[in-house]
Amino acid sequence: MTKKRIGILTGGGDAPGLNAVIRGITYPLVLNGYEVIGYHAGWKGILEDDYEILTMDKTADIQRQGGTILKSSRTNVYKRENGVEIVKENFKKANLHALIAVGGDDTLGVAYKLYKKGLNIVGVPKTIDNDVNATDYTFGFDTSINRVMETLDWLHTTTKSHGRVMVVEIMGRTAGWIALHGGIAGGAHFILIPEFAFDIDELSKEVLKAHKKHGYVIIAVAEGAEEPKLQRHIMRSQEKDDFGHAQLWSGIGIGKVLANELKDRTNLETRSTVLGHLQRGGNPSAFDRVLGTRFGVKATQLIFEEKWGYMVSLQGSGIGFVKLEDAVSELKYVTEKRYKTAKLFFG
Ligand code: F6P
Repeated sequence: MTKKRIGILTGGGDAPGLNAVIRGITYPLVLNGYEVIGYHAGWKGILEDDYEILTMDKTADIQRQGGTILKSSRTNVYKRENGVEIVKENFKKANLHALIAVGGDDTLGVAYKLYKKGLNIVGVPKTIDNDVNATDYTFGFDTSINRVMETLDWLHTTTKSHGRVMVVEIMGRTAGWIALHGGIAGGAHFILIPEFAFDIDELSKEVLKAHKKHGYVIIAVAEGAEEPKLQRHIMRSQEKDDFGHAQLWSGIGIGKVLANELKDRTNLETRSTVLGHLQRGGNPSAFDRVLGTRFGVKATQLIFEEKWGYMVSLQGSGIGFVKLEDAVSELKYVTEKRYKTAKLFFG
């Protein structure tokens, strides 16, 4: 009897913990008599029929490594001519029983649409941004906030030595989760996030007060944070990816602009640091290795039970599942209540 074949793909920006998911999927499937194939570079792999067979030997111990052994890309099936038809053809050609799409909102959005077109698909939520709906956390986020925390710890010492204001620009696109959690853990004096616009004049006054109190100031600013008066100074790259996103972390971002504006208004010596891809690279934290493993194993349960159109999800301390539709209908943003808690410690 031929073995049932299950495909895995990892799409979007990589996140620490991806390899733990791949291993978490491969072991139970192989042990239960399935064949597992890994598509290369996200949706690009299935569009180009480019894959490899995954085995327990090949995936042994990979949960400790960052990145993804399958590579990733931001390829959007819906931006390719006849993309959906090609995916459907290649699904058939590879004799796939089902596909597990591991990704953030973009990758899972495509997964949901393809599921609606009749393909057997389940999803696993990944992103350092932690903005996928219907799961308490995505994997990758914990590693990223630990990286921000550690970097802020380092920045405290040099900023304090020079009595400066340090503006630290943090990833997260339109969500402020990384800046919020990283900023709280790393003791930022102010945290600015996209969900709540700030006012540069008010902030300048607060920064002056905080500088008087501590002798230095650290500001964690999310790359998507907004101050209407400053927007015209921000120079984004005009290049957009397949999902229509511009690069927020490059060019002249909010970090640089904010540092300049604060310098003009406060006369304090200011510097800015863009953490960029340091927040995504390197080995996953223990939490992400375990969460990735648990997500992967749970995804195989969905396969065994033929529950198509679902995504695994962290619910409290347990792993459950939700409809893909609920996960991709909107992004998960920082609530006012959560931001208020952080604000208690500003200044
Ligand atoms: O979505 C994850 C993320 O790291 C965002 O926080 C960031 O804006 C973006 O990806 C960067 O993407 P890329 O690596 O494609 O430039």
